Amino acid sequence: MSRRSLVVGNWKMHGSRPANAALLDGILQARPFTCDVAVCVPFPYLSETAVTLAGSDLRWGAQDCSVHEQGAYTGEVSAGMLAEFGCRYVIVGHSERRALHAESDQQVADKAKAALAKGVTPIVCVGETLAQREAGQTEAVVKRQLSAVIHTLTHCAGEMVVAYEPVWAIGTGLSATPEQAQAVHALLRAQLRAATPHADGMKILYGGSVKPDNASVLFSMPDIDGGLIGGAALKAADFVSICRAARL
Ligand code: 13P
Repeated sequence: MSRRSLVVGNWKMHGSRPANAALLDGILQARPFTCDVAVCVPFPYLSETAVTLAGSDLRWGAQDCSVHEQGAYTGEVSAGMLAEFGCRYVIVGHSERRALHAESDQQVADKAKAALAKGVTPIVCVGETLAQREAGQTEAVVKRQLSAVIHTLTHCAGEMVVAYEPVWAIGTGLSATPEQAQAVHALLRAQLRAATPHADGMKILYGGSVKPDNASVLFSMPDIDGGLIGGAALKAADFVSICRAARL
């Protein structure tokens, strides 16, 4: 099954208006790409990003959304608001939010559902900590995280993007080996196959210290359909070179 690759930059809480303009310009100048390319930017920059990228084939999105549609939830942003700004994607369940904001598997699943209800594709992150890997719990952890989303989305499960991000590989410079990542991606694909007839067309991204020098070997693995890029997404040259490494 051939799946079109997707490379997504997760800017996290980085950027400034001048830096963003230069970064987006660098990515725009490097087109065309053979894969789909998106940037997930901090909320205040969505409007400007939408204007800058409008009319191009680059996509944009956010890094979180509320489980609620609207209401008295100070500081929250709804999926409907993201849709108004043309967001194609929203990252949900990033390990930084699971760890720093105590997001549960069910909350992550509810965010994915809220996003899909507004036509925004959730990029659902799963991944084990180093302690969990060393205790032999990798498979159980990622399956539990994905299972909550599958059960909540039911017949829409085929519409999400999944991202495997081992927590120990994020921001550490210590990427999973292509074989370690592929092994988990294959498990996730099998779990998706049991849940939806669309599993073979679904994208499963790898994230965690993806750099220009390791991207192509990671992206050559059969179940790795692109990447979710943190640090290297902040430099146009690095991000562009990672996008170029994606398989067709
Ligand atoms: P790094 O690429 O900086 O390791 O971050 C990965 C990540 O968390 C993307 O969501």
